[in-house]
Order: sequence, then structure tokens, then C-alpha cells
Amino acid sequence: MQAEDLACVGELLTSSKLPALEARALLAHQLGVARERLIARPEQRITAAHVRAFSSLVERRQRGEPLAYLLGEKEFYGRMFGVSRAVLIPRPETELLIESALTLGPLGPGSVLELGTGSGCVAISLALERDRWRVIATDVSNDAIEVAQINVDRWQADVELRHGSWFCTVSDERFDLIVSNPPYVAAGDPCLAALRFEPKLALVVGEDGLAALRAVVKTAPVHLVPGGHLALEHGSTQGRAVRDFFYQAGWHDVQTLTDLAGLERVTSARRPAV
Ligand SMILES: C[S@@+](CC[C@H](N)C(=O)[O-])C[C@H]1O[C@@H](n2cnc3c(N)ncnc32)[C@H](O)[C@@H]1O
Repeated sequence: MQAEDLACVGELLTSSKLPALEARALLAHQLGVARERLIARPEQRITAAHVRAFSSLVERRQRGEPLAYLLGEKEFYGRMFGVSRAVLIPRPETELLIESALTLGPLGPGSVLELGTGSGCVAISLALERDRWRVIATDVSNDAIEVAQINVDRWQADVELRHGSWFCTVSDERFDLIVSNPPYVAAGDPCLAALRFEPKLALVVGEDGLAALRAVVKTAPVHLVPGGHLALEHGSTQGRAVRDFFYQAGWHDVQTLTDLAGLERVTSARRPAV
């Protein structure tokens, strides 16, 4: 694409060779205007500097960088969240974790812990959906906590962020509900090639991908009130293994939710006696 040759929006979008929606999103982001304006005024002329900046975004997209990182934001549960390469891009399947938490959590005031908050999209969504819940969210990545703090501020959400590994930052506190979408991809899984722009810390754990799920199930009971629940997102082939972790530790009401494609995504259970 020759920057000097391209003067108007319509030509620029067509010449990018990206799907129309993506090209429009990138150009609107670059120009700082609404996408609708590009549709309404395809003859609009833009400067060579804007053309060059757009071309650079197009090249990054063509090399496989996710659109969300190029735009710096992603929608989750009906709200926009800022993202950077320090955090996992929020996924639609994680909305099932929100549904599970809203069903299992207390009807009135309550306390909720999210482990591995990344962008903060889960903790913030829960705090905004249930304004009487006190939500604490942790992450071992300081860079992720910084992104989550920006989102907490953006949404004015009542979420307290803590930096540390799993339960290290909650000492002897107990919660009504614990939720987590921990890393669950096995090292060496071929799917990692497609996820190469996202932080390994958010994706990969151990040889079988189950280490974090196992560790959270093991320690969660001492941080839950009697009758409290734990809800975990996991890989679509890991449902049986996660149910077994719960059964072997004596948890009650073990249940797995499936997504619209029928894939097992979230397993929850009620605290065993400790
Ligand atoms: C799959 S991402 C989930 C991010 C976000 N909750 C979401 O659903 O989009 C897992 C998160 O767990 C964090 N993490 C990895 N190991 C951790 C640990 N030992 N303790 C706390 N958080 C950890 C990663 O930094 C990452 O942000």
C-alpha cells in the first residue's frame, strides 16, 4: 500500500485486504472517530500521516496480532475493557463463568474472590452486576494488575486488586464465592501457536494444563465460608478431570456448564467440610 496514493477512506479500506469490519475498526480507532462515520463518508480524505499509521496497524494484523491488542480494548459481558499484551484478551466463553457466579453467589451482600484477574473483566463485571458484593481480585503479574486497575478506575467498580500468587494475598480471609479462569493449556499444546501474542503466564501451566486447577481446588476450602462455592473455567476437554478433583476432595453439588457449542467450560461445587 503506497501512502501517497491513497487519499480517501473508501479506497484505503478496500486496499487493506482485511475483512471490512476489521479494517473499519482499525481505521476508526486510528482516526479517533466512530466507525459509522467511515461508512457514511467513504469519500472523506485523510492525511498521509494517518494513512501510514493505518498501514502499520494493517501489517501487524496481517502478521496475526489480535485485533483487540491493536485497538487496545475488547468487549466482555456488554462492557468495554482496556487490554494490552500484559493480559489475556477476554473471551466470550468466560461469560459462562460470570453466569455461574451470579447464580451461585449470595442474593444480598457478599464477598467474592477472583484468582488470576488479568484485565479485571471478571471481577469488574461481578462488582457491577451485584453492587452489594465486595470483590477482591488477585494476579501474580504486576503488569496485569496495572491494566486491571485502569479498568477498575474506568468503570468505577468496587474491586480491590492485590498482587500475588493464588491465595497468598488473602491470609485467613473467607469468601462466599471464589471464581477463577486460571491458565489451563498444557505446555507444548499446538494451539499455543495461534495464541503467541498473549502472555504465556495467562495460558500455560505444567505438562497437562491441570496444575493450577488442581491447586485452586485443593486450597479453596479454607478460604470459603460454610456453604460457599468455587467456580472454575477450564478447557473443553478438562471437565471430567476437574469434577474428579472436586469429588476426591469431598465437595458437594458438583456441576459443569456447557457453552452454546455443547463444550464443557465451567465447573463449580460447594465447599466440603474442612
Ligand atoms: C486465563 S488468564 C484469565 C484472565 C481473566 N481473569 C480473564 O478471564 O480474562 C489467567 C490469569 O492468571 C494469572 N496467573 C497465572 N499464574 C498465577 C498465580 N500463580 N497466581 C495468581 N494469578 C496467576 C495470569 O497472570 C493471568 O492473568
